[in-house]
Amino acid sequence: MNDNSALYAAMLSTLPNPGLGLGLRSKHFNYILENNPAVDWFEVISENFMDSGGRPRQVLKQIAERYPIVMHGVSLSIGSTDPLNMDYLGKLKALADEVKPLWISDHLCWTGVNSLNTHDLLPVLLNEESLRHICKRINQVQDYLQRPVMFENPSTYLTFKQSTILEWDFLRYMTEETGCGLLLDVNNVFVSSFNNDFDPILYIHQLPHDRIVQMHIAGHQHCGDYIIDTHDRNVVQEVWRLFSLAWKMTGGVATLLEWDSNIPDFETYHAELLKAKQYMNNVAAIGSSAEWPWYSEPAVSNPVDFLVSSVNW
Ligand SMILES: [Fe+2]
Repeated sequence: MNDNSALYAAMLSTLPNPGLGLGLRSKHFNYILENNPAVDWFEVISENFMDSGGRPRQVLKQIAERYPIVMHGVSLSIGSTDPLNMDYLGKLKALADEVKPLWISDHLCWTGVNSLNTHDLLPVLLNEESLRHICKRINQVQDYLQRPVMFENPSTYLTFKQSTILEWDFLRYMTEETGCGLLLDVNNVFVSSFNNDFDPILYIHQLPHDRIVQMHIAGHQHCGDYIIDTHDRNVVQEVWRLFSLAWKMTGGVATLLEWDSNIPDFETYHAELLKAKQYMNNVAAIGSSAEWPWYSEPAVSNPVDFLVSSVNW
C-alpha cells in the first residue's frame, strides 16, 4: 500500500452520483448541441478525444460546459508487462485538465506488449504476482493523475489454469491495496459468467460494494455456446435483473448505457437507458441463482486462506 492509497479511497466516498448517463458519440453531436436533451451526464472514450484538436474536441468542450463528464479509457493497459506509457498518460492528464471529468476509468486488462497495441481488452492472469504487478502500476497511475482511477471488470471468453484468485476477490484486493475505485459492468458479469461458467449473482454479492462508483449496462450477442460483448443492441432481461441486484447492493450508483455499434438515433438510445428506472429499488426483479440455467460451482475454489496482507508487496 502506498502513502496515498488511503487518500484515494477517501476521495471515492466524496464522488457524486450524477444519475443515468449516455456515451457521447459523434453521431449525436449535433442533436445534443441543438436540443440539450435531459441526460444526467455523458461518458467519453478518452482516446477519441486525446489526439483530436479539431471539431470533436471543440464539441466536447461545449458539452462539458453543460453536462457532467466522465472519461473512460481503453488503452491504459494496466495489466501489461510493458512500462506504463507516459506519453499516453500525459495526454490523458491534459484532456482531464481541460474537461474536468467527475472521474477517470479504464479496465482490468492488458491491450498489448512490446509496444504493440491489439486494441482488444485482453484478460489478465489472476494470481499474486499479477496482483502485485497491477497494484504497483495503479499506484503509479493514480499518483501521476493525482486522483483515484476506477477499474472495470472485463468481459472474458476464457480463464487461465494458472489463476489462483477469483476475479471478484482480485478486484477487492486491488481496491484495498491502492484505493482505486471500481466500475461494475453488469453486462460483462453476465457475459463472463455464461462464457466461463460461474454464478453472476454470487459475483455481484462478493464485490466490495462501497468501492463501486459507477455501473455499465449494455447489449450483447448470444451465439448459443458463447456470448460476445457487442454493445450493439438493447439490454437483455437477465442483465436488467443483475442491475437490480447491483443497485440494491451498492445503494445505487451512477449508471451508463454503452452502445458502440449499430448506434440508434439519440432518442432511442436515451429511451433504452431510461428503462433502468424500472429496475432501481426493484428487489422482485432480481430472482435467485437457481433461475440461472448454467450455474455450477466456480471453477476455482474460493481461496479462503489467501489474505491480501500475506502478499509480499
Ligand atoms: Fe463496460
